[in-house]
Amino acid sequence: MTVSISPISDALGAEATGIDLTQPITDADKDALRQAVLDNLVLVIRDQHLNPEQYLAAVRLFGDTMPQHLTHLLMKEHPEIAVLDSRDSGADTDGTIFPTGSRDWHTDHTNHAKPPKLTALYAITLPKSGGGDTGFANMQKAFDNLPPSRKCELDGLQTINKIEDKPYVSAADKEKYGALQSHPLIRTHPETGRKAIYIHPGKVAKIDGMTAAESHEFVDELMDQVIQPDVTYRHEWRPGDLVIWDNRAIVHLAHRDYDHTEGRIMQRVLVKGDAPY
Ligand SMILES: [Fe+2]
Repeated sequence: MTVSISPISDALGAEATGIDLTQPITDADKDALRQAVLDNLVLVIRDQHLNPEQYLAAVRLFGDTMPQHLTHLLMKEHPEIAVLDSRDSGADTDGTIFPTGSRDWHTDHTNHAKPPKLTALYAITLPKSGGGDTGFANMQKAFDNLPPSRKCELDGLQTINKIEDKPYVSAADKEKYGALQSHPLIRTHPETGRKAIYIHPGKVAKIDGMTAAESHEFVDELMDQVIQPDVTYRHEWRPGDLVIWDNRAIVHLAHRDYDHTEGRIMQRVLVKGDAPY
């Protein structure tokens, strides 16, 4: 069977159908899937029925997996897989209970020197009352939309990134993954050469050359400016969806508009990336 790729929105994203990742895959299909990620930045592979080994093999079609922090979420037999189960939701500093997954736009794991190039999320169980969509925004398009003077202002800025100071991040994880990391605010995609705004606002300690307060105001204004309907897509999950997105060009957020006690279970795998430039 040959995979079929079709767009899912004007902003970004494509859907792959006609492929069963439990079966051997041809080189042509493998190339088509990889190219679809580069071209569309979010790839939704429908109707998969994968055990953990098959899931990992599928993700490895796109690159090597990498360790994740939040180590308490990792599957014991397969620690490359984090199980995001809304019933195990943690508490924020103010005691609010919330499911894992930031409700603010972000790219993943910028507290790493080499953050993941891709994130894979596989829908096991969805809340029966609905909700729990994931939003995606195309930051290449967002950068292209800016006036030249704003592009110049942003290009060359460096964000200084930290791990979140939250109760759900263990002391051991803070110790292991807590070193500050500097990344360009505007990064160049190593495979396509396209520029994108690259940011995880919740992990930005500051922008180099600004105070922390100035930095956060600057980042908030930037996100308000660039996140517009023409660059965004909201994914309504179906069971068996395997979604892979390109962190070098995409920010995403979790909609928490569902009853977390119903159990929304997703499995996450990260694919190794390079130091951003
Ligand atoms: Fe995320």
